[in-house]
Amino acid sequence: MKILITGGAGFIGSAVVRHIIQNTNNEVLNVDKLTYAGNLESLKEVDQNERYQFSQTDICDRIALDELFKDFQPDAVMHLAAESHVDRSISGPADFIETNIIGTYQLLEASRYYWNTLAGEKKSAFRFHHISTDEVYGDLEGTEDLFLETTPYAPSSPYSASKASSDHLVCAWHRTYGLPIVLTNCSNNYGPYHFPEKLIPLVILNALAGKSLPVYGNGAQIRDWLYVEDHARALYKVMTEAKVGETYNIGGHNEQKNIDVVKSICELLEELAPNKPEGIAQYQDLITYVTDRPGHDLRYAIDATKIKQDLNWVPEETFKTGLRKTVQWYLDHQDWVRNVQSGEYQNWVIQQYANA
Ligand code: NAD
Ligand code: DAU
Repeated sequence: MKILITGGAGFIGSAVVRHIIQNTNNEVLNVDKLTYAGNLESLKEVDQNERYQFSQTDICDRIALDELFKDFQPDAVMHLAAESHVDRSISGPADFIETNIIGTYQLLEASRYYWNTLAGEKKSAFRFHHISTDEVYGDLEGTEDLFLETTPYAPSSPYSASKASSDHLVCAWHRTYGLPIVLTNCSNNYGPYHFPEKLIPLVILNALAGKSLPVYGNGAQIRDWLYVEDHARALYKVMTEAKVGETYNIGGHNEQKNIDVVKSICELLEELAPNKPEGIAQYQDLITYVTDRPGHDLRYAIDATKIKQDLNWVPEETFKTGLRKTVQWYLDHQDWVRNVQSGEYQNWVIQQYANA
């Protein structure tokens, strides 16, 4: 297969590209604008492979997309490109509307026009796989419920509203134009190559630097954590095995309170990095409760029964094994860390945490 992957230089996209190049014979065209979140260093393990190619392209650029489809002739599209950080969507929603809604629209149109030029088996086998989030369902405050594929959409943040919009566009392009889509909604990912504006890498790296560990509100919010390589495996299975028009929730069965996640990281660091920065007795002493995120969703939790039953997918990592691997990865990859912590990242930290 020839697979056009958008956002392949990001956290999850790069895991998907690595998974496909390392475990299949498929060809990949990675289409990524390289925003602050895109990092080609995350693809060093595979970027010399002859089945891998890269194009620095904005998914809002329809003319460029048409050229890429014409030249590459993909059998499938896996759409991961997005603005993905909730806090950034609160301080500046414009890029989220542009990339997540308009960009998805342009990619759908480019896919539809290309798909209409196909015939026979190539046309019927074509897939457009939209990668989305459990945040479209809103939160599960005060209930024992889980998100099902049928849970009504109720997004809370500019980010989740933009992702919900993109999901609706994808489903409409299927129903109205017959574009053969599949759609997945996943819970919080963590693992190697995670950009350090997100909770888990931020806490690991701040602790190692002796900086405060910012916990929003009271830290009682719950997320359902999935190791990124488990997600990459699930996505490939859905793209290659799911029936056209299906949607799947993907989750890790790993519900954790934020404060417990932060404490678990501190405990692991006590063991794996016992030489603490000067003046720090215990990593946990760095925990600092800061102003809560506006509109903060209290709890997310996925029911992943459907993907288990239909496609025989279950996560391989528990939170315990995955978190240990992740902390060790950051300890072993200080070069990658140093490079992403340059210019733009510093500006974000100053803006986000100055008055916290
Ligand atoms: P990320 O922010 O790490 O990476 C996004 C990538 O998209 C970057 O490489 C960036 O350069 C690229 N990009 C951004 N705007 C673009 C544009 N206009 N044109 C082309 N490329 C562009 O994101 P991630 O965490 O890897 O998430 C990937 C996808 O998975 C997103 O759609 C996100 O909504 C979804 N998702 C993420 C999580 C999570 O926990 N991170 C969970 C569920 C779903
Ligand atoms: O649920 C899937 C979503 O998970 C994805 O769609 C998003 O792209 C991804 O970024 C993630 O969103 P969250 O907002 O849940 O992730 P984040 O790592 O930003 O925050 C996790 C939790 O930790 C959340 O409740 C907010 C809290 N938090 C976050 C930061 C950055 C803190 O308490 N302190 C912090 O400094």
